[in-house]
Order: sequence, then structure tokens, then C-alpha cells
Amino acid sequence: MPDTRPRRTFAVISHPDAGKSTLTEALALHARAIHEAGAVHGKGDRRATVSDWMAMEKARGISITSAALQFVYRDHVVNLVDTPGHSDFSEDTYRVLSAVDSAVMLVDAGKGLEPQTLKLFRVCALRGIPVITVINKWDRPGLSALELMDLIQAKIGLRPTPLTWPVGEAGDFRGVLDRRTGEFVKYTRTAGGATRAPERRLRAEEVEEPDALVWATAVEEHELLSLDEADHDQERFLAGATTPVMFASALQNFGVAQLLDLLLDLAPAPSGATGVDGTVRRVDEPFSAFVFKVQSGMNAAHRDRLAYARVVSGTFERGMVVTHASTGRPFATKFAQAVFGRETTSVETAEAGDIIGLVNATALRVGDTVYVDEPIEYPPVPTFAPEHFRTASAGDISRYKQFRRGIEQLDQEGVVQVLRSDLRGDQNPVLAAVGPMQFEVVEDRMVNEFNAPIRFSRLDYQVARRTDAAGAAALSGLRGVEVLQRSDGTHLALFVDAWRAKTTERDHPDVMLEALPAGG
Ligand code: G4P
Repeated sequence: MPDTRPRRTFAVISHPDAGKSTLTEALALHARAIHEAGAVHGKGDRRATVSDWMAMEKARGISITSAALQFVYRDHVVNLVDTPGHSDFSEDTYRVLSAVDSAVMLVDAGKGLEPQTLKLFRVCALRGIPVITVINKWDRPGLSALELMDLIQAKIGLRPTPLTWPVGEAGDFRGVLDRRTGEFVKYTRTAGGATRAPERRLRAEEVEEPDALVWATAVEEHELLSLDEADHDQERFLAGATTPVMFASALQNFGVAQLLDLLLDLAPAPSGATGVDGTVRRVDEPFSAFVFKVQSGMNAAHRDRLAYARVVSGTFERGMVVTHASTGRPFATKFAQAVFGRETTSVETAEAGDIIGLVNATALRVGDTVYVDEPIEYPPVPTFAPEHFRTASAGDISRYKQFRRGIEQLDQEGVVQVLRSDLRGDQNPVLAAVGPMQFEVVEDRMVNEFNAPIRFSRLDYQVARRTDAAGAAALSGLRGVEVLQRSDGTHLALFVDAWRAKTTERDHPDVMLEALPAGG
């Protein structure tokens, strides 16, 4: 039986330490997806092992992998797609955002807008993903609420439209003013936040001491906001012009239910997608999905390879034979899984908006489409401008075959971009990354998975531009630039610095030199 409940598919974006893991737990707890706090992310002792699978992740206490957590709330199915939480940036983070319909931007009230939040936000803007802002850690001293609104407007150019407004300044969190009803949602602290925090809704005239004074301030500020046109407007929110804002303490479970309500009430539902040829596939049409992440080695013993796909249309059923759009070949989905971190459960059916993990998906690559019935092919998941370059060579020449195989596999998975040229040959491919941590992942996996130690040498390039075969010919032999080809066929011109890229552009106006979407 297809599950016809409405879907919401979103990601939480934040700078590390803003409270993403804590919020994820609190959301899941609210929806009773898990019974104890601590089951989601693996940091510290109290947390279990759900999302950490690589030894490296454990050592660092970070989550490099991404998957989705699914739970039911108010008869909706909510898919929370996990973004990597480490401070370094990798392409993985961007790809995850291609699989969601909206994002929750989590801001630490004490720190304001941090670099990573801004970067992630830019990706959302680029992809037209509507953003809900949650000001977290309101239980701790921090910036003033109005100050934070100014920061959002100034730094990211989004008009903040608060739906709740804090009663009590940061560090003295009494509750919030629900700007839609005018009520005071009063919070009561509970130990550890491991249970649902009790909330009481009071009408304005019911507010008593000791809250009367702070309540009056909140009402005053709320009225100021309305005068300033900071009221929610659904159309402008969906168009990416405004961001609804709410105040929370993920640790104490304050505001978590409100966030869930908001996601259900305001965040967009899955809405189908447009194929490369312009055909539109609606959610109620036959099954189609695209792969946004490929991962292997989750189970070292099996050398398995898992392709995470976002269902775009129709109903997925386990055992379904789908067509792989780029090869036209059938692909049997005998084992499909719902995945969150290491915990996998077999899925029987999945609907538009859901994330499925396809097992043994050796042929599937990031960006690939699978479908049934009428063919459809979705546009490739965008790649971002690499800013870090190294040449790679086999650390142990007797393991060269394994080295080649490993590089090829990691290239296919999109762990790192692999570039080559006839001039350089195949012995020492150039690896290009958005964030330097991608090289560490490569090194770790080459040693542990392929038993092929790898050596890197730095390459002094900083800037990449897309060019074509004619550009490659025109630029060959010039100083400070080298053209290499990525495995998807794209020619990339690498420059030693931005100045060289600019002067080359100026001196060679006929050569195609196109900027790629910036990552870092
Ligand atoms: P991240 O996934 O975004 O990196 O952040 P995480 O949830 O791990 O939270 C980072 C730290 O901030 C944690 O403290 C967490 O308890 C704390 N935190 C999260 N939300 C809130 C909040 O609403 N209020 C307050 N006061 N603190 C919050 P830690 O000491 O680093 O880790 P832990 O030992 O508590 O796990």
C-alpha cells in the first residue's frame, strides 16, 4: 500500500556547534522516532553509534556521512536529511542540499552568523531553497533579538519575518510570543531536556508577574516588527526573499514543537522536477529518483556500495526494476534501505520526497536518474569550484593496480574530483577538492579500503574555470595556467591565482572561461 501521507523533506544547516545534533535529537524525540536522547549522533559517551561509521569519524567525533532520518508528525512524514557536521567544507554538503525542499538555518544566539552558516546559506539561495531560521541557545546569554534580525538582513540579504518573538532576553528564556495568535507560550524547564518540555499557552491578559515586564517588552518589539513589514508572507518566503524566524533552545526542547508545526504549515511539499529536456515530472507520475550521494565501505566485510536517492515522483517499491537513465540499463532494487547513519532498515515502499538507499549500486553515480515507465533524466547535481589541488601517486608501487582502482572508485563516488591530461599521463592524477578534508577522506579510504597507500604533492593552483577543447588548445603553454579534464568530460583551466585568471580572461577574450559556483 502506498503511504499517501504528505511529505516534508528538509535539512538543518549550521556552523559546527550551533546545536544541529541536539536539535536533530529533539525533533526526533518530539516525533517519538527515538525514545532516548542520544541515539542520533555519535559525540561523546552518551551518544550511540548511529551515524558514525568510519574510524576517522569516531576519532574526530564528527559525522562525515549523510543520510536521512524519517519520522511521522501530525500525520505527515518528515524526512530530515543530515548534512555533514564538520567545520571543513566538502562537496558532499552541497549535494545533500540538492535533495531537500527547504532548509532550517540554525543560528547560535551567542555567536550570530558564522562563516559556515553563510556558505551553506549561499548554496540554498543558489538552488532556490526556502530557509527557516531558528535562533538557538536562547537559554544562554547572547545577542539581542533585534540585533540578530539586523545581522540576518545585512549579512544574507534575507528579510527576517519572526513568527515567534522571545519573552525574556537571551539567558532568561521565559517563552515566546506567538506572533500569529498574540499568545504567550510559556516554557517550563525540565532536567536535561530528555523529555518534552511542558508549554502553556496564555492569552495576553492572563500574563502575570514575574513575566509582566518582559512580556510588555516582547509585545512592544513585536509591534515594531509589524510596523517594519517584518510579518510573514508565504509567497515571499517561497520565493527566497524572506525567512521566517523562531527562537529556541534545542537543549531544553523549547521551540521544537513549534519548529515542527512550522515545517508542516509553511515549508514546501515535494513538487516534482524538470528533466534536462524540459519535461516536467509531477509527484503523482510514475516513479523516478536521482542519486545525490554514493557511499561505500559502510560494511567493510561486504564492500557494499550504497547510492542514496531522493524520490522525485511516484511510489518506489522494493524489488522494483528501474531504468538507469544514463545507460538505459535495468537496475534491480532488490535491497533498498531506509538509512540513518549506520542503522538501516529495509524499506518496502517510498514516496516522493523520501530518501532511499540502493544497495549494490555499482553502476549508479552522483546525479544519475532512475525511473520506471516514461524516460526522464534530471539535470546533474551541480559541482562546485575546486580550490585545493594535489597530485596523487601510489605510495607503494607494487600496489599500483589497487591505487588506480581506488582512485577510480572515489572519483565515481564524488569523494574528490579527478583530473587528467595527456601531458601528465595517468600515473599521477590531479585531485581537486572544495575543502581540504576531502583529501584526508581519500587518504583514509585508500589505505583502509583499497590497501593502497597514497602520496600527495601540493599543486600551486587556486582557481578553476570551466573551458572547452578549443580553450584547452588556446591556453596550452601559457604560464600559470594548466587545462585538465575531469572524468565527466569537463575541461577545467587551473590558475595559480585569481589575478592570473583575470589577466588570462582579459588577454584571451575569445576563450571560454566560465566561473563555477563558488563553494568556499
Ligand atoms: P553541532 O551538531 O551543531 O555541532 O552541535 P551540538 O548539537 O553537538 O551542540 C554543540 C554544543 O552546544 C553541545 O554542548 C550542546 O549541548 C550545546 N547546545 C546545543 N543546543 C543548545 C541549547 O539550546 N542551549 C545550550 N545552552 N546549549 C546547547 P557540548 O558541551 O559541546 O556537548 P555535550 O557534551 O553537551 O554533548
